[in-house]
Amino acid sequence: MNPGTMTIAQLKDAVKQRHSVRQYLDKPIPADVAQALQEEIDKGNAEGGLHMQLVLNEPKAFSSFLAHYGKFSNVSNYIALIGPKGELLDEKLGYYGERVVLLAQHLGLNSCWVGLTYAKVKTSYVIGADEKLVAVIALGYGATQGTQHRSKSMSDVAQLTENADPDWYKQGIQCALLAPTATNQQKFYFSRIGHRVSVKAGTGFFSKMDLGIVKYHFEIGAADEEFQWA
Ligand SMILES: Cc1cc2nc3c(=O)[nH]c(=O)nc-3n(C[C@H](O)[C@H](O)[C@H](O)COP(=O)(O)O)c2cc1C
Repeated sequence: MNPGTMTIAQLKDAVKQRHSVRQYLDKPIPADVAQALQEEIDKGNAEGGLHMQLVLNEPKAFSSFLAHYGKFSNVSNYIALIGPKGELLDEKLGYYGERVVLLAQHLGLNSCWVGLTYAKVKTSYVIGADEKLVAVIALGYGATQGTQHRSKSMSDVAQLTENADPDWYKQGIQCALLAPTATNQQKFYFSRIGHRVSVKAGTGFFSKMDLGIVKYHFEIGAADEEFQWA
């Protein structure tokens, strides 16, 4: 795992503090904070072969009926999650998008993944040939810090061995249960043989994007141990 600019302890804090926030204050993102986000986005794009873009001071995507229906207000900054079409696109955008989300949280911002309730403002980003925009992440200073989502239990989402699972595996699953998932569906399932961990996406809307997010969270929780993805 490459934790980027944050330490594991900072990432674990951000995992606990992050909740989806849909109402924002009318307060712009300062240049140094935007710069830090841009660097994380650039790094994710380089590692993942993606084309994520930071869009600042653009209120139109969240001014439509759809956005109000989705209870969003005052959103004028977001990340456009764009990359080359292909089997792995959603999962990669999930993984690298969540890396930016946790940095944003650490820098005092709030966020919300948005798959549906936004308008596509095509003049605000570049979508290359053979690329697509899959979702966006709203960013800004929240009117609140959000609330903890209702969660499934460890045994709902993972194969457990009674009293025999190592701590790193359990911590990984606990971080995964704190991850944002579309409609809070938490449709993923972990299993483990020794140090080889597998996680599968269930069927559901955006479940491949959820999978990438959840993998990043698991890596943070399990960071004390060297394990491999099966
Ligand atoms: C891929 C994805 C798509 C999402 N799409 C929307 C959306 O269109 N509208 C919305 O209000 N929330 C959306 N969410 C936010 C989820 O509803 C939220 O993450 C979930 O309820 C868990 O709550 P939490 O993020 O506060 O932990 C999305 C989340 C993910 C991961």
